[in-house]
Amino acid sequence: MICVSKNESNLNSQNLKIKGKTILKGKVKISGAKNSALVLLAASLLTNEKVILNNVPKLSDIEKMKNILKHLGVKLNSNNANNLIINSKNLHIGDNLPFELVNGLRASFFCIGPLLSRLGEVTLALPGGCKIGKRPIDQHITGLRELGANIEVENGFVNAKIQGEKKKLVGSKIFLSCPSVGATETLIMAATLAEGRTVIENAAREPEIQDLCLMLNKMGAQIQGYGDSKITIDGVEKLSGCKHKVIPDRIEAGTFLIASAATLSNITIGPVIPNHLESVLETLKATGSKILIKGNEITIKTKEIKAVNIKTAPFPGFPTDLQAPFTALMAIAKGNSEISETIYENRMGHVDLLNSMGASIQLVNNIAKIQGVDELKGQNLKGSDLRSTAALIIAALSAKDTSYIGGLEHLDRGYDCFESKLNILGANITRNFNEQIFFNQTIVDENISKNKEKFKAA
Ligand code: UD1
Repeated sequence: MICVSKNESNLNSQNLKIKGKTILKGKVKISGAKNSALVLLAASLLTNEKVILNNVPKLSDIEKMKNILKHLGVKLNSNNANNLIINSKNLHIGDNLPFELVNGLRASFFCIGPLLSRLGEVTLALPGGCKIGKRPIDQHITGLRELGANIEVENGFVNAKIQGEKKKLVGSKIFLSCPSVGATETLIMAATLAEGRTVIENAAREPEIQDLCLMLNKMGAQIQGYGDSKITIDGVEKLSGCKHKVIPDRIEAGTFLIASAATLSNITIGPVIPNHLESVLETLKATGSKILIKGNEITIKTKEIKAVNIKTAPFPGFPTDLQAPFTALMAIAKGNSEISETIYENRMGHVDLLNSMGASIQLVNNIAKIQGVDELKGQNLKGSDLRSTAALIIAALSAKDTSYIGGLEHLDRGYDCFESKLNILGANITRNFNEQIFFNQTIVDENISKNKEKFKAA
């Protein structure tokens, strides 16, 4: 598929013109998982041999991570659009990673485990908060300390060092106070080259963690129990190169299924790993959609949308990353529903935006109380984060009239050719440059530039 060329620098001045009342039809290809690819890129730093990653999605978050790796002396090549050959032989930390590189990419912190294991010492900027909540990293830090790292957090930076002559972390028993995906991944990576056995209890079970462990075991790691809440890692001396294919993106898949349901359409998505989508498929069935699974493809057919309550939860529960798209679906369901966000403190930015399209949603703490309406109306809106932008696009596809949806700087972080894929399914979406937003944004950018020092520790 040829994607529209996107100029990174003015993404926040672009919007999508979306014709409403669209019916989707046909088949769409699901890309590799963003959240897997990001952590696999970090894990490739654990070896000085070549790692070949296939099925890497084309996303701005991946480009940011690639730039971080380049800054660390990693050579990156590719022989097709979705493959990456990663060579970390000359890994070095040099200067601290520039703020511009780590800013806005929480996954940049994934590098701490591999860098600590290979170099014995590292300083990284704190990933900071973001629009969906504070997102602390205390579990990463407590766990690394348990493994013997000396860690200080100062002025927005994390200084981590392994004491002793051997410069090796030491296996330990770690209990996570919450099943954090990122902390589980950080500690797995750090423990692979540690001395002795590490046991992580109350570990996250997300498919992306399973993908990470599969790749690390191909590299020679000794990890057992992944996919369960108790993971055992026996440290090894050295990891070797490997070839690995990133799993399909279950969140992208779920977003297309929800878009299809919201437009009363009939589409097929694939390749996917249906088990990764179990709670989403069960929920969509409860809303009245017919679901057919055939191998690694899923077909959805929708004639009605019934109201269903959901509560987000760690895997295998309903994913928080699909909460906003599902809210857009429930906004036009028959009846009343309640959507509870339990993972993030501030992930309801889409509620007011959907209300301005005619939805009837009342937000009480972190629960969206929705009274389904017959239809939404087209609007000119800007998504506040990655998944809220996807939710607005879904709402716009189902709404009457035309909508203009901004927030593409968020959308392109996590969806590979989103509007092109929707257009293949019959949508009528064009990406436009909005001069007015561009000029207003340029003034804001200039101010940010002038004050950059102040943002260093953000
Ligand atoms: C990952 C995903 C993100 C997804 C989230 C939950 C990546 C790059 N991102 O994010 O898309 O929404 O999992 O499925 O893989 N927490 C703490 N202390 C910590 C770590 C986390 O309190 O040290 C809290 C967070 O504030 C949050 C919750 O735990 O409320 C879940 O966070 P976590 O599972 O760590 O999410 P991420 O790994 O950041």
